[in-house]
Amino acid sequence: MRVRSNNLSPWQQHFIATGPGGSEHYQDAMAQTVAQLAHVFEQADKPYSGLDPVALKQQIEAINLSAAPHSLQQVIQHSAELIAHHSILVQHPACIAHLHTPPMIAGIAAESMIAALNQSMDSWDQASAATYVEQHVVDWLCQTFGYDQHSDGVFTSGGTQSNIMALLMARDWAVDSISQHNVQQQGMPEYSHRLRIVCSDKSHFTVKKAASIMGLGEKAVVCVPTHNNGTIKIDALNQCLNDLKQAELIPFALVGTAGTTDHGAIDDLSALAELAKQHKLWFHVDAAYGGALILSQQNQRLAGIHLADSITVDFHKLWYQPVSCSALLLKHKAHFKYLLHYADYLNREGDYLPNLVDKTISTTRRFDALKVLMTLRTVGKEALGAMIDHLITQTRQVAQLIDEHQNFELLAQPSLSTVLFRYQHPVDAFNRQLRLACLKAGVAVLGETTVNGQAALKLTILNPCLSIENFTNLLTNINEFADSLLQMETC
Ligand SMILES: Cc1ncc(COP(=O)(O)O)c(C=O)c1O
Repeated sequence: MRVRSNNLSPWQQHFIATGPGGSEHYQDAMAQTVAQLAHVFEQADKPYSGLDPVALKQQIEAINLSAAPHSLQQVIQHSAELIAHHSILVQHPACIAHLHTPPMIAGIAAESMIAALNQSMDSWDQASAATYVEQHVVDWLCQTFGYDQHSDGVFTSGGTQSNIMALLMARDWAVDSISQHNVQQQGMPEYSHRLRIVCSDKSHFTVKKAASIMGLGEKAVVCVPTHNNGTIKIDALNQCLNDLKQAELIPFALVGTAGTTDHGAIDDLSALAELAKQHKLWFHVDAAYGGALILSQQNQRLAGIHLADSITVDFHKLWYQPVSCSALLLKHKAHFKYLLHYADYLNREGDYLPNLVDKTISTTRRFDALKVLMTLRTVGKEALGAMIDHLITQTRQVAQLIDEHQNFELLAQPSLSTVLFRYQHPVDAFNRQLRLACLKAGVAVLGETTVNGQAALKLTILNPCLSIENFTNLLTNINEFADSLLQMETC
């Protein structure tokens, strides 16, 4: 029963209070927010409104943040009309640029619980049930990826953080193994300038970012060439590792990718694991994009992933969760000791209850695991896996449509759910111009990258609800838009 409290102080109306009637304003605000957003989604006929970016910037800058306050009702309405209405709508069939997913409703419902409960995952006394939920989801993930009882994991803000944490632990483990030197306590050893991370030239840029943040410099990352399909050349990798040792350098980590950002390429993880073992390297698999394949019929394409020392999995990609939601899994939970620091006020040594801050570089941390739990319970792992299988099949069909189109050129056979192509035009920059023009007009939000030195367009197909007609329409629209651009050029 709702008990209406009429005499709230001006400050109380901004908070949820425990006890009868304490959530009345909250309920009204949520109901209004949902109604306004539903209106935005239901009225949308483009992935972006088409408002000129300069005009959008001016309208947002015109919001006076120092002005007298408005009612929350007014602010919700204005935010929906200006901000939501001019947002990139990931749900629209023509929003197809990035690994940026339409979120599942279970995840969105979880997100609103996460916000209102505002648990902080660092310590049990800030996240009682949440601590056990995260651990339960992590245990399920470890098992799903073929890890045993020695494994563990932790939720992170994204693939970037997961990759950084993995390489940080890899470095400290390597230095510990080589010279019993404790990087956490003593800083870098004198031979740190010789440490090397090995990955492919299609690995995500966050491998280099991690090296730079870790004080090794981007020069510490050695990129091995790839085949045309984007997978690492195993012979070249073997040669590279031998060359590095010959040059008295110290390779300590090997990064394999399960789903490169552009090609969706999956490295031969078993071969990489074998080389990592031979050369005593920490083997990290960046499965930010392709990790969800573990749920699909094609999970054998990830064969060998259970041999990795660490795995990055991004739920805000092919697991359809609202940003942000990611995890890092470790084969040997003991390696989390490289991140452990005790603070008197937070996580005392020997605490009776678990404090998840022990396993991460974050302190205050979101309760993102709830989204995965609620999605798995609502949608189920079979349906999630079937969506991935469907996307892979559909991506091949879209690639064929492009291949058969007289004005488009397919640049690579798809591996996961991306299609790399270009509009055939003698001027390379035309494709960049085309992408930007489509974005600004709200015709389509397309990806842009470089393939073999050429400007390329990219479709990243994530939405399992699209039909092949959506793609035929999309390609027709892009083609017509390119025609109109060419006509304007000749005028
Ligand atoms: C292969 C790969 N790894 C890592 C990342 C970084 O992940 P995040 O954006 O979640 O930090 C991405 C992002 O697209 C990616 O494609």
